[in-house]
Amino acid sequence: MTKKVAVLTSGGDAPGMNAAIRSVIRCGVRKGWQMFGVQHGYQGLISGNIYEMNTRDVGGIIQRGGTMLGSARCPEFMTVDGRKLAIRNMYQLGIDSLVVIGGNGTQTGSYELHRMGFPVVGIASTIDNDLCGSDITIGVDTALNIALEAIDRLKVTASSHQRAFILEVMGRKCGYLALMSGIAGGAEAITLPEIPTDPEELAQTLQAAYEHGKSHALVVAAEGADYNAAKLTEFFVTNRDRLGFSVRSTILGHVQRGGTPSAYDRNLGSRFGLGAIEALDRGETGVLVGQIASKITTTPLEDIVGKTKALDMELVRLAKLLD
Ligand code: F6P
Repeated sequence: MTKKVAVLTSGGDAPGMNAAIRSVIRCGVRKGWQMFGVQHGYQGLISGNIYEMNTRDVGGIIQRGGTMLGSARCPEFMTVDGRKLAIRNMYQLGIDSLVVIGGNGTQTGSYELHRMGFPVVGIASTIDNDLCGSDITIGVDTALNIALEAIDRLKVTASSHQRAFILEVMGRKCGYLALMSGIAGGAEAITLPEIPTDPEELAQTLQAAYEHGKSHALVVAAEGADYNAAKLTEFFVTNRDRLGFSVRSTILGHVQRGGTPSAYDRNLGSRFGLGAIEALDRGETGVLVGQIASKITTTPLEDIVGKTKALDMELVRLAKLLD
């Protein structure tokens, strides 16, 4: 039976979203389905900003960061009336299912649509890697490599001036980006939202690095940690005399979201797109498409919404052994 399927991206954009859009549209068209794109996430569903898309409409986007469909955070969609309007707009165009590409908040929205009886399949996409139901999400690999490049660059200037640098990375309430970029970048210390920071212990680590003759020290701070860049800088500046190093800090912020998607993220987005179309073809809805133990999987949305993926404590142990 010919299906009419719409796709949207919502929440924070993530490099690799375009690969997922391209894959959803092309795999859907190959099945003989009519495919639609929604502009600016849930906002576009509410305002009826929905148009038909074909194979050629997604040409030349796989290498681009961001999302060709645009994204938004939409408070109106959090209301029942907003969602009813969105469903009415889709029914008016004959659209019978929706693919939603996004992270935690976005998939809470898809779950609400599913609970109202509209067939939805989610695709796990956020640089934060905080979404349950997928070991890794679209955008993480690219964001991680951008953070790593920043670390490598900061180390160069830090060494020239014998300074300690604090680099704050994104991730909301999840420390994955901080932990993994910290390990890969050889950071002296990492602060994480999941683990309380002992600033005294951190100061001692920097002091020891200075006394051992290190030319620089690097601390990766997660934006959601109790000690983010601002708080750590304040603490270090008041303890400047015993640290040895002088201290500077950099907040990487949205730079992490703007990169050209890595090969990994393009392939992950492409695989997730096919996963979503195949789930719809099986009549499997109300699920999130993700990757668990290297396999493309589906997990019921009700099992993942409102949860944050826990950090792997083995990796935390590794980071401490290597500092
Ligand atoms: O969820 C992705 C993310 O980039 C977080 O890491 C960050 O805290 C947040 O979005 C920033 O949101 P906004 O783009 O709305 O400023």
